[in-house]
Amino acid sequence: NWNMKNFVADQIEIVREQVGNKKVLLALSGGVDSSVVAALLIKAIGKQLTCVHVNHGLMRKGESESVVEVFKDQMDANLVYVDASERFLTKLENVDDPEQKRKIIGAEFIRVFEEEARKLEGIEFLGQGTIYPDIVESGTKTAKMVKSHHNVGGLPEDLQFKLVEPLKQLFKDEVRACGIELGLPEEMVYRQPFPGPGLGVRCLGAITRERLEAVRESDAILREEFKNAGLDKKVWQYFTVVPDFKSVGVRDNARCFEYPVIIRAVNTVDAMTATIEEVDWKVLLKITDRIMKEVKNVNRVCYDMSPKPNATIEWE
Ligand code: XMP
Repeated sequence: NWNMKNFVADQIEIVREQVGNKKVLLALSGGVDSSVVAALLIKAIGKQLTCVHVNHGLMRKGESESVVEVFKDQMDANLVYVDASERFLTKLENVDDPEQKRKIIGAEFIRVFEEEARKLEGIEFLGQGTIYPDIVESGTKTAKMVKSHHNVGGLPEDLQFKLVEPLKQLFKDEVRACGIELGLPEEMVYRQPFPGPGLGVRCLGAITRERLEAVRESDAILREEFKNAGLDKKVWQYFTVVPDFKSVGVRDNARCFEYPVIIRAVNTVDAMTATIEEVDWKVLLKITDRIMKEVKNVNRVCYDMSPKPNATIEWE
């Protein structure tokens, strides 16, 4: 009979059989799929697996740290942590077109991963968090975008590996159940979707360090307060956006000219259409108050009321 415990046990056997005593490489973003596949491969083949976590500098607050904490410290995995923040931010300087930003982030990601792969010797396999909806044409942007971003098929000829894809029969909810079965923290397994280009598409226009910091800090406050209000388990996706224009305000009795923060919180089934979460005013006021007090260079907070369509979920 089919249950998650048996599935995990079976996949561990299948992976061991496939891999033998060879080495496997895995790009570990910290997203649900790559985290679950990492946990499964660690159980199956331990140190024959090398995980590479690329911090592109567009991660949410504390996110890369938690990948290191869970996989290196708790699960004792072979984990290569690459802080490539400076590289990405330099490449992205003065680039304001959203699709161009995505292309640069995707291409640079593959380049960094390739460099790390070359440093390692005797790798024959590549682990991938491919899930069932990635294989069948699901038509949702999330699946496609995630695929194009993490598709390491972009690696050069001499770096083609055999694939290890133990989750490819599972739907998203089954992947989460698999993660729980493998002992991953709930926060990792039930986390909201996060785009491959990360905060890069929420720091609108040409990314600056100043505004990126404002996106990251305001996002952290939003997540904390949504958690306090029990909204983290209810709302499908929630985040903040910082546009590349300023507005006039007052600070310490003087005129200030600073950025706004826009809050977005949406519910959807397939990401093709979405409605906004009607967040309690008290929660919004608390978040606004904290953002005003704690986030630098911000003097205004707005709530995005737009459904999809006509808006999209992200701003870029
Ligand atoms: P939109 O903005 O098109 O977003 O309504 C629908 C869903 O897709 C996510 N999204 C992305 N995911 N790379 C990704 O991995 C991307 O470039 C990207 N753009 C949007 C978005 O967060 C939402 O969940």
